[in-house]
Amino acid sequence: MIRINELGFTYPGGTRALDGISLEVPEGSFMAIMGANGSGKSTLLKHLNGLLIAGTGKVTVAGMEVSRKSFDDVNRVAGFVFQDPNDQIFAPTVRDDICYGPRNLGLPEAEVSRRLELAAAQVAITDLLDRPIHHLSYGQKKRLSIAGVLAMEPRMLVLDEPTASLDPMGEKRLMRLLHELNRGGMTVVMATHDVDLVPLYARQVCLLRAGRVAVAGGLREVFSDQELIERCHLRLPRIAYLFDMFPELTELPLTVGMARRKLEELLERGELGPAAGLLASGLGPAAGLLEREGDLA
Ligand SMILES: Nc1ncnc2c1ncn2[C@@H]1O[C@H](COP(=O)(O)OP(=O)(O)O)[C@@H](O)[C@H]1O
Ligand SMILES: [Mg+2]
Repeated sequence: MIRINELGFTYPGGTRALDGISLEVPEGSFMAIMGANGSGKSTLLKHLNGLLIAGTGKVTVAGMEVSRKSFDDVNRVAGFVFQDPNDQIFAPTVRDDICYGPRNLGLPEAEVSRRLELAAAQVAITDLLDRPIHHLSYGQKKRLSIAGVLAMEPRMLVLDEPTASLDPMGEKRLMRLLHELNRGGMTVVMATHDVDLVPLYARQVCLLRAGRVAVAGGLREVFSDQELIERCHLRLPRIAYLFDMFPELTELPLTVGMARRKLEELLERGELGPAAGLLASGLGPAAGLLEREGDLA
């Protein structure tokens, strides 16, 4: 779906934001782009739909090289959700905002309505369609900005720190929506530095450091190098640190669900003492709760 070759980008003013990024994202992936503030996440994402054009190197999306010429075609494939919904929504009402894109495509009004209803239902704002957008809460604006993108029926969603500033419920709702869309075949690429959230949902991670890929790959692979993670100003998921008390564990769990399964397996083999049994029984209900909420990857 995405192929990035040796992408380099320098902002006017001289900041070298991306310095030779190569990355592939297969169709159907759920990839988290991680890294400290200023590591280049937003700059990278903006190259995926032509908001920025490669300074050096090449970005290909769904077989199309991203350029000014291909901007419209690339945008039909890659829906971009800005970090701040205020940068994205602009029509007077929720309804107008969702309909804007499909109307702009010249679609018949029946198709515009179909997409409006579907997108509004997907993000659960059907009851808000007649609201003026300046009466919406931040979380509602966020959902609206996603509905506007979904109404364009893209094959890929690119989201810049989508959970930033959402309350825990809003975060859970949003991540579940992304999970469902991904299960339906949508490629999802999101920038975030929420290390506790990523293992619950993402299956691939690309870790950026000073405009370069520090490591990219599966969850396990990326989170296995604690030193590297910390050099990138991140940390392991909290649950992993709890497992420092079991030095015999070589592979740290990244979610509560993984932790429980790991402990149960070791207990069955008689490889851990009674403390582990207590921990496993405590993690049971926690994992049950989290599995309902996430921990789906
Ligand atoms: N519009 C801009 N003009 C100049 N420099 C920028 C601009 N946007 C970002 N930068 C710089 O580019 C680097 C990467 O920024 P960014 O992609 O926003 O990182 P992240 O999203 O990971 O926080 C930073 O050094 C940042 O200061
Ligand atoms: Mg950013």
